[in-house]
Amino acid sequence: MTGDGTRVVHAGLPSPVPGRSFLPGPAFGAPYHLDPVLGPQPGVDGYGRTDNPTWRALEAAIGGLEGGECVTFASGMAAVSAVLLSVLRPGDTVVVPADGYYKTRAFASSHLAERGVTVLEAPTAGPYPALDTVRLLLIETPANPGLDVCDIAELAARVHAGGGLVAVDNTTPTPLGQRPLDLGADISVASGTKALTGHSDILLGYVCTRDPELAASLTAWRGSTGAVAGPFEAWLAHRSIGTLDLRLARQTANAAAVAELLASHPAVSSVRWPGRPEDPAYAVASRQMRRVPGVVTFTLADKAAVEVFLEASALVFAATSFGGLHSSADRRAQWGDDTPDGLIRFSCGVEDTDDLVADVRRALDAVVA
Ligand SMILES: Cc1ncc(COP(=O)(O)O)c(C=O)c1O
Repeated sequence: MTGDGTRVVHAGLPSPVPGRSFLPGPAFGAPYHLDPVLGPQPGVDGYGRTDNPTWRALEAAIGGLEGGECVTFASGMAAVSAVLLSVLRPGDTVVVPADGYYKTRAFASSHLAERGVTVLEAPTAGPYPALDTVRLLLIETPANPGLDVCDIAELAARVHAGGGLVAVDNTTPTPLGQRPLDLGADISVASGTKALTGHSDILLGYVCTRDPELAASLTAWRGSTGAVAGPFEAWLAHRSIGTLDLRLARQTANAAAVAELLASHPAVSSVRWPGRPEDPAYAVASRQMRRVPGVVTFTLADKAAVEVFLEASALVFAATSFGGLHSSADRRAQWGDDTPDGLIRFSCGVEDTDDLVADVRRALDAVVA
């Protein structure tokens, strides 16, 4: 296999044709021309809710990186809900992360529970309930925002013993950071809104699997619900994936430097980054991950301290996403996460490391001044 930089630059591109662009532009079409006599034909695009060549190119790119067949969706939540609703039936049991993305938990406890699915929650670092009776285990590793990690292969073996399925939310690592399907998961599902595309300008989601029946049922689900990405978003995403290796390399380097600073600063009471040898998640993360993402979570004294930190920083945007070019910080309690008032999910951008560290140091100093 070639290196990550080479793989992302060439991911999903058509073979070179003289006079054509490297990445063909977005194909905009609601209806496409039909053969006036034959009508709809298999393999010929007919309607934009089910067929689009720009998606197919993007799906070839992401599917190649994840190592499975890819189905794209309008957003990460469209992808997560497609997995949950198309796999689970009344009477089934699903386990979702107690400390993962809060909307996934909220979706499960409302829409799934009222459809007769038993919803259990488990902390990412465990303990997990009996897994040989669950239909679906959805894990998020590293979990967002606490950054705990779980052993995908070990959990997959426990679920598979009872015939269930394992889905991994791979949003934070991206397929360059972790390949859940190689580790035994049945499904890798993610928001492409974050580091995968990384420019804070599109919403996207995807699901990858090696099971052709599951891929077909997710594709059918998307066609019926209409949870499709727009062609322009799909094209922007594909273009952005070409720099994924470069962006992640800088984000991870920045996270390593910022985590060290945070660990030694008196304004900070705790710091989590699975790339630090002192971190409880370090052992499993270094075994199963190819790279550690650029997200660091730390805790200041309280809400007021976070306000001082954000106002004193010149580079860090207050924003609730992560994985983008720009460093940003989010006080998670303001969204209802069950976290301390001063807990910040900090997303390292691709600024120069020295500049970012100096800026964060100034902002932390302002907190204790
Ligand atoms: C881990 C995780 N999964 C899924 C989502 C949902 O993605 P989207 O906002 O693209 O719907 C998010 C969004 O923050 C997330 O952090």
